[in-house]
Parts: sequence; C-alpha cells; structure tokens
Amino acid sequence: METSSKLPNIGTNIFTYIGKLANEYKAVNLSQGFPDFSPDPKLLQLAEDALKNGHNQYAPMQGTFTLRKTISEKIEELHGKSYHPEYEITITAGATQAIFTSISTFVQQDDEVIVLKPAYDCYEPVIELFGGKIVPIQLEGPDFKMNWDTFKSVIGPKTKMVVINTPHNPTGTIWSKSDMLQLQEILKSTNIILLSDEVYEHIVFDGEEHQSAARFPDLASRSIICSSFGKTFHVTGWKVGYCVAPKALMQEFQKVHQFNVFCINHPMQKALTEYLKTPKHYLGLNSFYQTKRDYFLKAIKDSKFKVIPSSGTYFQLLDYSEITDEKDIIFAEKLIRDHKLASIPVSVFNLDARDDRQLRFCFAKTEIVLDQAAQILNTIR
Ligand SMILES: Cc1ncc(COP(=O)(O)O)c(C=O)c1O
Repeated sequence: METSSKLPNIGTNIFTYIGKLANEYKAVNLSQGFPDFSPDPKLLQLAEDALKNGHNQYAPMQGTFTLRKTISEKIEELHGKSYHPEYEITITAGATQAIFTSISTFVQQDDEVIVLKPAYDCYEPVIELFGGKIVPIQLEGPDFKMNWDTFKSVIGPKTKMVVINTPHNPTGTIWSKSDMLQLQEILKSTNIILLSDEVYEHIVFDGEEHQSAARFPDLASRSIICSSFGKTFHVTGWKVGYCVAPKALMQEFQKVHQFNVFCINHPMQKALTEYLKTPKHYLGLNSFYQTKRDYFLKAIKDSKFKVIPSSGTYFQLLDYSEITDEKDIIFAEKLIRDHKLASIPVSVFNLDARDDRQLRFCFAKTEIVLDQAAQILNTIR
C-alpha cells in the first residue's frame, strides 16, 4: 500500500543506529542515555508490593491523587511554588508523553515554536506533526550561553511556545538564576507558553541549584514543567513521569491526555508515591552522579580529549579536535569499529548538523564500564 508520510524527513534515529553498531562490534556502550545498574531494591520491593496488593486496574486519568499530592509537596518544598494536586498535575508515560501532549495540545497550524539547538530529539517532530514551525536558535560551545538579543529578535506575533531544557541533554550545561530571570523578563508581556523540560532536575553538580521554571512566578504562570521518574530513580524502563502547569493550561492538556493514553501504569504510581516520601531518595542523586562524573574525568585526564566538566545530567561532552578533524559521525563510527567504544556524535542535535568535533558520553555506568571506556579513550592519540 502507498501512503504519504507526515514526517518525511524522519528516518532511523541516531540512538538506534549507534546502538545497533555497538552491539555488532560488542563495544563498551556509553552512547545509551540510561543507567547500566539496578534501581534501589527498596523501590523494587515497593513495586512488587503494589502488584501483589491489587493495584492492577486503571488508575485515575490524572494519576493517583496521593502521587499528585506527594509531587505537589515536593515542589513546594524545593521551589516554593504550590501546584494544586487536583487541577495542576498529571502523571504521564515518561516525560516524552508529557512533551508530546503539551505540544499537540497547544501548537496549531503555522504557530512558531522556538527550540534551542543542540536539542534533544523529541521536540521537533511533534511540532512538525501538528503543523507548527520550528524556529531554531543554535547555541555555541563551549558554554552554550544564550544571546538574549538573538532570542528577542526571533520572537514575533506567531510565537506560541518556547522549549527549554535545563540541565541540558546533550551539553551538560545548566541555566543560572540570571538566565531564567532574563527569560522571564522577555516573555513577560507575551502570551507565549514555556515548555520546560526538567527531566534531569536532580542531577546538578558542584553545589549549584536547579533553577526550575517553578521558582519564577511569571514563568511559572506560563509553564508546563516536565519531569521523569525514570531519570531520577534509575527506572527509565518504567516510563513514568509527570508534568505540572497552572490550571488553565493543565485543563487543556488533560483534554488531550485522556484520549492519548487516558492513564498511566497504576502499580508503579503506588510504588513511586511511597518511595518519594523519603527526600534523600532524590536529593542524594546530585552527589551520586557527581562522583561518577569525577571518576570518569579523572580516569581520562591524560587523554587527548578536551573536557569542560558537565554541570548537570549524566552526559559528558568530549572534544576530539586535537586528535582529528574528521566529522563527528565518522569519528563515532570509527571509535566503535576500531576501538570498541560507543558514543553519540553531537552534530545530530545541532542546526544543519553543525559539527564542533564533539561526542556525548553517558557516565550513568558502573565503575568497571567507565574504566573500560577510559582505557580506550586514553589510547586514542
Ligand atoms: C532531555 C530529555 N527530555 C526528555 C526525555 C524523555 O524522558 P522519559 O524517558 O521520562 O520519557 C529524555 C530522555 O532521554 C531527555 O534526555
């Protein structure tokens, strides 16, 4: 049968391609953005208890009330902003669904959506699918700072939404309080919705604080903030996340959500509710991953790769420009084929495949795997 594609330019994504190649060559795999270690046995026990205790039928459409209430209390404690558990929080199938549903709810034909590049890959196809126009702004390394004059210059009457992501995949940068204040000031007199992807909210290093959009009253009044239990509790395969937004936005979001998935895995919501009641389960994540980042960076300190330590997320960019000027995709393939180490070339996240000779490595791995990767990186001269 012949049919036309709504996404004619989307092919196999880079993660699938690199993953396949890594398997073929039995490469040490730092390309995959998820942990290779087990979650806390306590969380697994809670999941088992929830399954055995009969929570195996549909959950409420918005998510269980107790989970929403626990999330509301957590956000109030961390960011001083109160979200009403009844109207302003929805449990989603990972942040991916929260993002998909947010864009599909609000973006209409010819609406413009500002996306900052490099960008995680799940925003743009959805904008396109719903007839929106992507307005990209390419940020430049090594610090990937926003030029606010450029930002102002792309805002116009058709701008419907801005997508931000802090801590940021793939660069490992975070937005400061002053970045968020600048954004707040510029959006103040507009009707623009902010889609704030904060899935790495609990992975911030060197004593810095995560600057959630929830902390800034005018930003919060226009924001849908997306989070992921997968990232925070090492359970990416559970695909449970949530989003929070003011009532008027959340009401529209839920109209779509109820026909999109209706509701999310019930026993896992029960388990997560209990587990969330102990703040150290998420507050300890910063130092857990900082230890991994430091371990990895120490192990490669004598390599020829140039490093700016990641400030957040579990990703580290490595600049290989002193080794070769080959394109990053070619170099990434070579690393797999010739050295048995897999990473992600950063150009795939950039505008027009801009290539700064950088690869993304995920350090959410055991020390054994990080050692294996470091040994390989140290031999490449
Ligand atoms: C920046 C970013 N946003 C969203 C997601 C998706 O999160 P989830 O697995 O909860 O759907 C990811 C996962 O890699 C991510 O890196």
